[in-house]
Amino acid sequence: MSEDEQRGRRPAASGDATGPRSAADASGIDAALEVLVEAPGQRGEARGGTPPAGLARRYGGPLAVSLRPDRPTVIANFVESLDGIVALGTGPRGGGSEISGASEPDRFVMALLRTLADVVVVGAGTFRTAPRHEWTPRGIAPRWAGDCAAWRAQLGLPSEPAIVVVSASGDLPPDHPGFSREDGRAFVATTGSGARQLAHRGLPARVRVEVVSDAPRIEPGALLGFLSRLGTRLALCEGGPHLLSGLLTAGAVDELFVTVAPQLLGRGPGAAARLGLAEGHAWDPREAPWGSLRSVRRAGSHLFLRYGFAGQRGPAPAQVRPDAIGPGLP
Ligand SMILES: NC(=O)c1ccc[n+]([C@@H]2O[C@H](COP(=O)([O-])OP(=O)(O)OC[C@H]3O[C@@H](n4cnc5c(N)ncnc54)[C@H](OP(=O)(O)O)[C@@H]3O)[C@@H](O)[C@H]2O)c1
Repeated sequence: MSEDEQRGRRPAASGDATGPRSAADASGIDAALEVLVEAPGQRGEARGGTPPAGLARRYGGPLAVSLRPDRPTVIANFVESLDGIVALGTGPRGGGSEISGASEPDRFVMALLRTLADVVVVGAGTFRTAPRHEWTPRGIAPRWAGDCAAWRAQLGLPSEPAIVVVSASGDLPPDHPGFSREDGRAFVATTGSGARQLAHRGLPARVRVEVVSDAPRIEPGALLGFLSRLGTRLALCEGGPHLLSGLLTAGAVDELFVTVAPQLLGRGPGAAARLGLAEGHAWDPREAPWGSLRSVRRAGSHLFLRYGFAGQRGPAPAQVRPDAIGPGLP
């Protein structure tokens, strides 16, 4: 046990994502995740398998996600405190890194999941509060960028996942690095009024704005329909808690990957409103989504949990107006 742990303090960040590989090796942060539980492999068609050797060694084995035949498969990835907090508020510097303690193993797992995805889906709140993020494997774990790119190439995927930002309002900063993909693989899924707002803001021409709802909000079925028309087989939702809650409520989340960081944050007066994993909907316990445990991994005192939710009934992808559909992922 480290001195920090003995005194119950936050340990120093477990690795600099941009640091040299040799220094990382010397400090032991490249150690394999310890596999505590691993359910038997996926059935049917799946994305993934055994990654390049460095990734496989670090993850502690293969990683595959079953693909649904009827609609895009949706997995989600979050980090939460021991008491279920995922954000210290809605401003910058209140999200994942502060919750995880800048955990390098958490960044590694995020990069692996992004590597498998056709599309990373984020809500506008998350997008606005991460002004330097681009939602790529390279952006979160540069040390592993080469291995992740090699795995994507093996899997026949383009070098980076596309991004879909979900926004009703269209209140998005046009110069955000998340929109910097040069290959027409950045999308905004929005409403009619959101599209008008975005036209006013002058997004770069390479960002494709798609009206997927005439209503004030985007129903999960409409979002799935849009992802499906893009050719998506596997979508990774990286939050935030309002977007996730909507997807969970509709039974649209197939698997949840949750990192549990060993800190207690609490809620109370004086603190900005802290957000839990799912916000905006409170389930009756008789109707709450229940997961089935698929795997547990460990790095120090952080736990990496994987739950399946595919037993839930989910929405069929909605018919999306043909004129709202782009030509699909390049
Ligand atoms: N710990 C973690 O793993 C983690 C992960 C992700 C985010 N976070 C944190 O969570 C915080 C943000 O939380 P949040 O709940 O506000 O984030 P969010 O779910 O990303 O954003 C909510 C916004 O997304 C849009 N949206 C979501 N669902 C929609 C729907 N069905 N239809 C249309 N638009 C929809 C709306 O945007 P408009 O307002 O533009 O209409 C809504 O206001 C940040 O601090 C972030 O860092 C933490």
